[in-house]
Formats: sequence, C-alpha cells, structure tokens
Amino acid sequence: MDLHVISIFPGMFSAITDEGVIGRAIKQNVLSLTLHNPRAYADDKHNTVDGRPYGGGPGMVMTPEPMVKVIKAARSHAKPGAKVVYMSPQGKRFDHQTAKQFAATDSLILLAGRYEGIDERVIEHHVDEEWSIGDFVLSGGELPAMVMIDAIARLLPDSLGNRESAEQDSFAQGMLDCPHYARPETFAGQKVPDVLLSGDHQAIAQWREQQAFVRTLERRPELVTEELLEKIKLTDDQLDLLAEYRKATSDNLN
Ligand SMILES: C[S@@+](CC[C@H](N)C(=O)[O-])C[C@H]1O[C@@H](n2cnc3c(N)ncnc32)[C@H](O)[C@@H]1O
Repeated sequence: MDLHVISIFPGMFSAITDEGVIGRAIKQNVLSLTLHNPRAYADDKHNTVDGRPYGGGPGMVMTPEPMVKVIKAARSHAKPGAKVVYMSPQGKRFDHQTAKQFAATDSLILLAGRYEGIDERVIEHHVDEEWSIGDFVLSGGELPAMVMIDAIARLLPDSLGNRESAEQDSFAQGMLDCPHYARPETFAGQKVPDVLLSGDHQAIAQWREQQAFVRTLERRPELVTEELLEKIKLTDDQLDLLAEYRKATSDNLN
C-alpha cells in the first residue's frame, strides 16, 4: 500500500516508521510511506503556512495556497484515485470497518492539520473525506494519522507475522477479543483456565468464542446485533445469558 502524509511535522512519523509492525511492513515493501511538508510550498522566506483568521478570534489557520499546492503534489505522487483524507475532530468516527476499507485500497493521502485547522475552502474543494479518532481535540493531525496508519497497516496481507493475527482481534469478527494467558501456569495464586491446558483444540476454540461473546455482551452490548448472532452459533449458556441481558434491559426501559 502506498501511503502519503501531509504534515508540517514529518519528524513525528519516525515514531511508527522505525520499529514494530509498521517498520517491518515498510522494510518488507508491504507499505510505503511518503511525507509531504506544506512548508516546502510556502513562498516566503519563513516558509509560513498559517495566517490570522478572518473575523478575528484566537489561534491561526493554515492558509490555502501552500495547502492546495502540497495536496496537488501528494496527488501527483500517489496512485491515481487516491483519496485525500483530512484528520478532523469534525469528521466521521474512525473504526475497524473503515480501517478495513482503507486497507483494501492501494493508495491514500492523509492530511494532518495544525493550529485551528485548515482554511475551509481547501477542505471543500480538495478533501475527499474527513475522519476523526474520537470526540476530543488534539493539537495536530499527526497522532490521528499515525493511529489510522497503524490500524490500517496491521490489516494488510503479510504485514503481521505468523504468530500474530488481526483476525482474532477485537472487532474483526464483530466481537471483543477473548482473554489471553501466558506462562507461568499459576501467577500470584491465580491459575490459567484448565481448558487452555487441555490440548483439546475444539474445546479451546469454543471457550474462546464463549468468553469473547460474554465480554462483548457485558462491555459493549450494542455490538451484539442480529447480524452477529446469525454469524456465531450460540451455546445454550450463551442463549440464556443473552435472554437474561435482554430481559434486564427491557425491565430497565419499562
Ligand atoms: C487544534 S485542532 C483544530 C480543532 C478545530 N478548531 C475544531 O475545534 O474542530 C488541530 C488539528 O488537529 C487534528 N485533530 C485534532 N483532534 C482530532 C481528532 N479527534 N481526530 C482527528 N484529527 C484531529 C486536525 O487535523 C486539526 O486540524
């Protein structure tokens, strides 16, 4: 996948490019990351990319000229049809499904804002989509871009080694992940669940699915949709749990 990021702080991205899953994906040519700095497209000697907002008020705004130039430059380097995605607290909420859709594309341009954001005319005419990583405001779009890149990169075929798998992670199958344990068998007086030591792969798979289901119902009941229920085969215990949960929520509503 061919990723482009527009940012006035390109150095921040070494946090993800040098190590870990993304570093490995870049080394193995599963992913390429190209950084474009709007300052290189400013036409004054200070490489200014911000200006005072019309109408007054605090803060500065990223001015249109260098932003449009840098977006055009990124588009010319990216593969044809690459979307320009603006990191914005006002965008739609980024989630696993979106990460999956982006991972299925071969090129993407992520635009990180700073200051009070980018001149609205740039957003209207040069941005294809706006995505937020949550209902809070950060000082810049670099961390949101890195969050999105990480979530996307781990879904690319061949980016995770054999020992890791995004398939079992939370949200991949519509549920949260099951609990995990490693050595020692007993830690601080607490023993690993017996079934995980049994060597019975079918029983282990069933236990994991049950745990994942119970966790999802307890922690994120809104994820337990009819679609999910059609996909997984519930055991009698799970059906009882679901019936209990539904009764409790309908009692609460009445
Ligand atoms: C200080 S913020 C600007 C916030 C803007 N004035 C507002 O209230 O909507 C600067 C930049 O950080 C990025 N940013 C901040 N919070 C974000 C979030 N939750 N998701 C994605 N990007 C965010 C955006 O790129 C934004 O242009």
